[in-house]
Amino acid sequence: MDFVKLNKSRHATKHFDGTKIPTVDVKQIISAASLAPSAHNIQSWHFVIVESDEKREALLAEMKPSNAEQVKEAGAVIVLFSDTDLVERSREIARYGADELNDEQLSRFNSRYPQMYESYDEFYESDYLSINAGLVTMNLVYAIKNRGYDSNIILGFNRTPKINEILDIERRYRPEMIIPLGNAAIKGVPSYRLPQEKIIEIR
Ligand SMILES: Cc1cc2nc3c(=O)[nH]c(=O)nc-3n(C[C@H](O)[C@H](O)[C@H](O)COP(=O)(O)O)c2cc1C
Repeated sequence: MDFVKLNKSRHATKHFDGTKIPTVDVKQIISAASLAPSAHNIQSWHFVIVESDEKREALLAEMKPSNAEQVKEAGAVIVLFSDTDLVERSREIARYGADELNDEQLSRFNSRYPQMYESYDEFYESDYLSINAGLVTMNLVYAIKNRGYDSNIILGFNRTPKINEILDIERRYRPEMIIPLGNAAIKGVPSYRLPQEKIIEIR
């Protein structure tokens, strides 16, 4: 779909009709989303597709009450995590990509980046992860729309290791965002945007 058309047709959707989206479709959507850029191409994202009804139910207790309904009614639920072990992530890219990366790239992921990540302080690393998570989330919601579904992005939940516990996900991964998707029961509507003169300056 044309990008502007796609953009204008995407709206935060908060009511879904409950029709399940096959996991194979969700995986394809995630595959498209993961073409997103990331700093140093570190791809610090980790997606969890919540297939289990029990786990979805347990997640509801961790949602801000106003966000629970959307997760309950969605056709599928994705929980996005960030990998906080960037040193290991970098080495993993070198291992998995060994056949596709050239020598220079391999040496970056094997030694230069791990050293660099060791020097990041907690706040810098947290921002770094959040920015990458935001970019892939944006790509994800476009991939969802492009596939004919609607979605929302939810930050309003307890972003604590309890989420890892519920979903049985290693503590190395930090919960970032929950993305419910599906067929809209109530269509999202265009929302206000600030005028250009408020958001652009030319120097
Ligand atoms: C980082 C982020 C966090 C959000 N958190 C929530 C949330 O917790 N609950 C919710 O209903 N919507 C949430 N939204 C949706 C926004 O409210 C929505 O995107 C915004 O109002 C603009 O509307 P639009 O997406 O239809 O253009 C979030 C969106 C973003 C980008």
